[in-house]
Amino acid sequence: MHRSPPRSLVLGLLTALAVSAAAGGAAADTRAAHLDAGRPVKERVERLLARMSLDEKIGQMTQPERQNVTLDDITRYRLGSLLSGGGSVPTPNTPESWADMYDGFQRAALATPQRVPLIYGVDAVHGHNNVVGATIFPHNIGLGATRDPELVRRIGAATAEEVAGTGVDWDFAPCLCVARNDRWGRTYESFGEVPELPAQMSTIVTGLQGRRLGGPTSILATAKHYVGDGGTTNGTDQGDTQLSEAELRKIHLPPFRAAVRRGVGSVMITYSSWNGVKTHGHRYLINDVLKRELGFSGFVISDYNGIDQIDGQPGFTPAEVRTAINAGIDMVMVPADWKRFIETLKAEVEAGRVPMSRIDDANRRILTKKVELGLFERPLTDRRYLKTVGSAEHRALARQAVARSQVLLKNDRNVLPLDRRDNKIFVAGKNADDIGNQTGGWTITWQGSSGPITPGTTILQGIKQTAGPSSTVTYSKDGTGIDGSYKAAVAVVGETPYAEFMGDRPGAMGLDEADLQTIERLRASGVPVIVVLVSGRPLDVSAQLPKWNALLASWLPGTEGRGVADVLFGVTRPTGKLPVTWMKSVDQQPINRGDGKAPLFPFGYGLTYRR
Ligand code: GLC
Repeated sequence: MHRSPPRSLVLGLLTALAVSAAAGGAAADTRAAHLDAGRPVKERVERLLARMSLDEKIGQMTQPERQNVTLDDITRYRLGSLLSGGGSVPTPNTPESWADMYDGFQRAALATPQRVPLIYGVDAVHGHNNVVGATIFPHNIGLGATRDPELVRRIGAATAEEVAGTGVDWDFAPCLCVARNDRWGRTYESFGEVPELPAQMSTIVTGLQGRRLGGPTSILATAKHYVGDGGTTNGTDQGDTQLSEAELRKIHLPPFRAAVRRGVGSVMITYSSWNGVKTHGHRYLINDVLKRELGFSGFVISDYNGIDQIDGQPGFTPAEVRTAINAGIDMVMVPADWKRFIETLKAEVEAGRVPMSRIDDANRRILTKKVELGLFERPLTDRRYLKTVGSAEHRALARQAVARSQVLLKNDRNVLPLDRRDNKIFVAGKNADDIGNQTGGWTITWQGSSGPITPGTTILQGIKQTAGPSSTVTYSKDGTGIDGSYKAAVAVVGETPYAEFMGDRPGAMGLDEADLQTIERLRASGVPVIVVLVSGRPLDVSAQLPKWNALLASWLPGTEGRGVADVLFGVTRPTGKLPVTWMKSVDQQPINRGDGKAPLFPFGYGLTYRR
């Protein structure tokens, strides 16, 4: 028969079991807490933060460029984010290899003790524009001409599907700048010159993120560049915006207020200055206005090496690092010198010049977005969406957006729409049959480039596809070969690709010599000339306009050039309205609605067809 053990021993054992179960459970519970999707976001973030070392926290605030890290670096330095700069792509540049690249980086991040997933940023500013084969939508200036916020939201949602399909989970878009001087090389990244247009088009944030973060194709959006980048003197990119606070608030702040209201997850700081002070170091604008007054609860990222500009000298110093972080920047885009950034910030914290509370606040903001995005539960690419990249559905949406973005500025004797039947059309111009020129900057490479850089439909191809079988379409880039037997000549001219400061035009803003000669050649034949202007902004065309029979502002339409032909042939009536005032002469710049200057065409102008 079993001797029962003394009561005290049984009680002791039961207590020990209870304690270890609780401890084990608590330990298991603590270990799993931030990984437990059933727990409130705030609790998961606090539990995780409590477990993190200073090194791990600083790793979350560091964003190198992908080319400057190894997989081992990601794990060893606990890196929380990477970016692809414009044109920084895997080889081959296919959606599948993007997904493989992303998953490789992500696995390295998940190999860290806290298993915090990284967040990967790209500039998908008019579609997933780094990826060959992606749908390239019109640049923002064309979308502003549509006056259709719902269309722009749909474009955001389509872009998010293509971006998420390649694994990427963060888009450095939309640019919500208010372009006040068309000399600025980033004018085409603006939805318009008045604050209400970019504010209305902040619907793209909802398109990109979804109505709330965490859906299968929800990617983090970025309202950029905070604040006043479109208001610099002479339109100099990264220059100085000299405005009173009242003017800055009235003109440049509303789009950011709208984006914050839509729950935008991140904000990128502008390179430019406000009244001589670099915004990357501006505590009042970032901490007080953006975070406190507007109530922005996401995280703030610097621009590319943006903190280096605070003192006006190359590279960054400990003073610039602490100034930027203490001003409210939560994550620093430090593409190459990221190891020195980590060391510098750590030293600043240990010296007490950057309070731990600031480091923790930055981490709370970053980690909260990562949890809300669902990155802890679904860190790897959802490859179901790979097939959406460049899909027929997305291209159809882009074609619709192209047609809606066209602004008809002149149409003498109703030379437009062109007849589809029994017509004889001559097409000329360097931008007629060039995907690279019609997509513009931020396409495949940072600056974009002329030529067949990605699959799409050129404007010439669109014209050929739309003209009926009983019509003929002849193309000659410089217009040679035209004669009086043609019924209409279409000259597709304008700008070649550029991005950022490379596109600043401090001097003349007219057509280049080649375009002028091409148009002249067409005109000399006596055939009616229709000019289609493919450009990132209004150009100075007043002197030539009287000799043109029609003028269609096409902006930078992207890959679906057939949308331009839809308007030329009247498949779609032109409904676009100018999102920017059109100068009568270059010396009017800056020229904007309500400034008392007499433009060639006012903000909001646009013709349609009578029939
Ligand atoms: C660039 C641009 C910014 C972009 C960032 C990352 O310099 O100013 O719009 O998001 O760097 O490419």
